[in-house]
Amino acid sequence: MEISNDILRYEEQVILQLRALYKEYGYSQYRMSRFEEYELYAENKAFLPPGEILSFTDVSGKLMALRPDVTLSIVKNLKLDSAINKIYYNENVYRSDGAEFKEQMQVGLECIGNIDAKMVDEVLSLAQQSLDIIAGGRRTHLDISHASKETDLNDLSYYSDIVFQGYIEGVPEKVLAGGRYDNLLHKFGKNNGAIGFAVYLDTLEKHNKTQSLKESGLINIALPKGRLGEKAYAILEASGYGCPDIREESRRLVFESPDNGVRYFWVKPSDVSRYVERGAADLGVVGKDTLLEFSPDVYELLDLGIGKCRICVAAEIGSTLGSTDKTLRVATKFPSIARNYFLKQGRQIDIITLSGSIELAPLLGLSDVIVDIVETGLTLTENKMETIEDIADISARLISNKASYKFNKERVDKLCGCITEELNKTR
Ligand code: PRP
Repeated sequence: MEISNDILRYEEQVILQLRALYKEYGYSQYRMSRFEEYELYAENKAFLPPGEILSFTDVSGKLMALRPDVTLSIVKNLKLDSAINKIYYNENVYRSDGAEFKEQMQVGLECIGNIDAKMVDEVLSLAQQSLDIIAGGRRTHLDISHASKETDLNDLSYYSDIVFQGYIEGVPEKVLAGGRYDNLLHKFGKNNGAIGFAVYLDTLEKHNKTQSLKESGLINIALPKGRLGEKAYAILEASGYGCPDIREESRRLVFESPDNGVRYFWVKPSDVSRYVERGAADLGVVGKDTLLEFSPDVYELLDLGIGKCRICVAAEIGSTLGSTDKTLRVATKFPSIARNYFLKQGRQIDIITLSGSIELAPLLGLSDVIVDIVETGLTLTENKMETIEDIADISARLISNKASYKFNKERVDKLCGCITEELNKTR
């Protein structure tokens, strides 16, 4: 029976087209169970996206998990019966977004066996064709790089050689991701190569309701409210991207200058990277401290050379980090930076996360040291404290949403060029 396209949802129509495409290239559908032993995911957590795994105990008392990923099940279960195994899947995965578990539809394909250059070309071509199908006429971009150069994958050691991500104009997150993952196969004792990708139809659906503000063709820039944001705006204005209304006394949060092709938002400083990462803003100005703490999935384009300070370990004058076999109590607004820093030193720590007046913690015996921003050093001096170790130099950075950069590269590069020229005048 022919089913008319009118009664299928957009997502269902797209899935049918993708399946037809993969079949045409000789891929056959692989079906799998909704759950696996929990151990499979626990042992390969680095291959999975971050987040909790939904687990349960079966009748025999074995710990099981609803699959958060399809590739691991395929690699574990697939019987390699020919030189090259070409399969596609259309399955749901179960992932937490921090607040709750979600069932997400995934379509993708895997090619396992003797992977030669022709196979790699075929998979890349199928990735591009898949993007074109789901884009429905919008512009697409397939970003291809080498695993060793790619820094935002979960665990590079599983990927070798080529990795790629697909973007669609107007969708602020990647809608396709894949790569060559021979190392994962080797981990399962299989001496073969593998390459594949997944299409994230949920991401596409989530962003189909594009905000009306974003449709004007202006570059949206999130500025941090306060002194740093004002300095950043002054640089942008001097670089030819002014928006005179912004200097007027008002409570407005959005200002635009169609003449200069920009729109500015005033945002809480710690939220700037969220706006940019999620695509509500194309660009943003944010302290390097926030980037180090939250590792947002954005491009860091320029060092604006303002808001300069340092992140340090500090303590009461005369104190030291003490003996390494003692757990160090660290008070901080930057738990990730502190954890990473002491982890590299092999030092056991107990983190006390505070939101301000960090210097109080050692004075009141709450912690041994602090990890905090030092600008003039006055707060430390006035509280009889001093820096023990420097962790990193901090300054404000211009960041970009990754997908938006792919489609506005020329305009954003031009803006960066103008800013660099302006900064060079004063350096
Ligand atoms: C920051 C930082 C230090 C202080 C350092 O605090 O956490 O406390 O500035 O500046 P200084 O070296 O010039 O003295 P912020 O002003 O953000 O206030 P907070 O204590 O509420 O975090």
